[in-house]
Amino acid sequence: MNPEFENFLDLVKKRRSCRDYSEAPVPDELIANCVEAARLAPSACNRQPWRFMIVKNCELRKSLCYEGLLPGLPMPWLKKVPVIAVLCAETDIFTHSIAPLISKVQYHLLDIGIAGEHFVLAAEAQGLGTCWIGWFNGKKVRKILDLPRSLKVLSLISLGYPANPPAPENEIKRMKPEEISKYY
Ligand SMILES: Cc1cc2nc3c(=O)[nH]c(=O)nc-3n(C[C@H](O)[C@H](O)[C@H](O)COP(=O)(O)O)c2cc1C
Repeated sequence: MNPEFENFLDLVKKRRSCRDYSEAPVPDELIANCVEAARLAPSACNRQPWRFMIVKNCELRKSLCYEGLLPGLPMPWLKKVPVIAVLCAETDIFTHSIAPLISKVQYHLLDIGIAGEHFVLAAEAQGLGTCWIGWFNGKKVRKILDLPRSLKVLSLISLGYPANPPAPENEIKRMKPEEISKYY
């Protein structure tokens, strides 16, 4: 196997959602590297709709934890996380409103997913833990961060040093290759 691909696959295999963090701060340089990896992601019509709100401020993080999440899925571990990245889409009238009417594809969701995972893998490569968080109240998050209406909040990502390494990759329940792919 090409060693570059082997390294890449090792990185992908190592990544697990981290739900147990140390409170140690994350150096800005490492956060910037995650943003840089996201910045280089591909996007429909190269519109680059992603916007990363990097929340380090303790009061704002508390507000996100206590008011920004939806009920029913407690995430007490989030209170210890030193950084919460709020992923938003700056939607563009053509790519994100007109084109999907014709193709029925929500391009901005694809774009944000790709950029978000670049961010996550860059974090993993630097020894940081992450967890995508989709169970949030977008209106409340927008209010807490005073975001303009043009920004649609699509996900939160926790970022910090893992307190305990998440369970290894072979414990993740995943479908088999033949269940998720078909060759023509
Ligand atoms: C779009 C998205 C939303 C998610 N939302 C949450 C969430 O709100 N809370 C949570 O604890 N995990 C959340 N997760 C993490 C998933 O539960 C996790 O990725 C999945 O169970 C596979 O485990 P792994 O990430 O350790 O491989 C989310 C993941 C994605 C991709």
